[in-house]
Amino acid sequence: GGFGTRLYPLTKSVSKQLLPINDKPMIFYPLSILMLSGIKDILIITSPRDKPSFMSLLGNGENLGISIEYIEQNEPKGIADAFLLGSNFIKDDSVTLILGDNLFFGYDLVSTFKNAIKDLKKATIFAYPVNNPSDYGVVELDKNNEVINIEEKPENPSSRYAVTGIYMYDNSILDIAKSIKPSERGELEITDVNKVYLDKNHLDAVIFGRGVAWLDTGSHQSLL
Ligand code: G1P
Repeated sequence: GGFGTRLYPLTKSVSKQLLPINDKPMIFYPLSILMLSGIKDILIITSPRDKPSFMSLLGNGENLGISIEYIEQNEPKGIADAFLLGSNFIKDDSVTLILGDNLFFGYDLVSTFKNAIKDLKKATIFAYPVNNPSDYGVVELDKNNEVINIEEKPENPSSRYAVTGIYMYDNSILDIAKSIKPSERGELEITDVNKVYLDKNHLDAVIFGRGVAWLDTGSHQSLL
């Protein structure tokens, strides 16, 4: 992740993903989504500063019945850097990436994720209708729910569908992540990865319907 500057001073000395949400640190929510979806081998990517805090919170995962490994990201180089850092962990598997600050809640959510993992062809993203799509990756679908366009924080969004922070990929993600170049903000953009899949007609999108909430934690107001 980045430095969480939008949440200063809350995040001056504490990782955003360790801030309390109700009765648990933020990371418990995305972690439990992975666990409920049946994923038991988890790699947590953190800044060097925050690694000891995550390790003291979660250890090797044994208490939770999972295996947790850690790797440091020395600078915020973008979400897609996860696949460069994690390539030895992923080996020849497919992989799900979830952002540590994305909160999903709702009816049938876990079976949606389980089915997506079971039916994964090449790449699956998950979209949610929002009023401020320009703040996110935005995906456009045709009437058959096929993806026709994906853009990162467009000024004039082509749809209301924000790309949420959970992504599922086949093993070709490792080569694709190596092939993309940093964006203007100097990051390996997950949207650029998804564009490569889209260009090959290999990008599926699942739209969350009513009964699902996707909650942002990027500002003091949304965190509250
Ligand atoms: C990132 C992605 C964006 C996605 C969002 C979800 O944005 O780049 O496509 O919609 O996460 O939380 P960032 O948090 O880097 O601004």
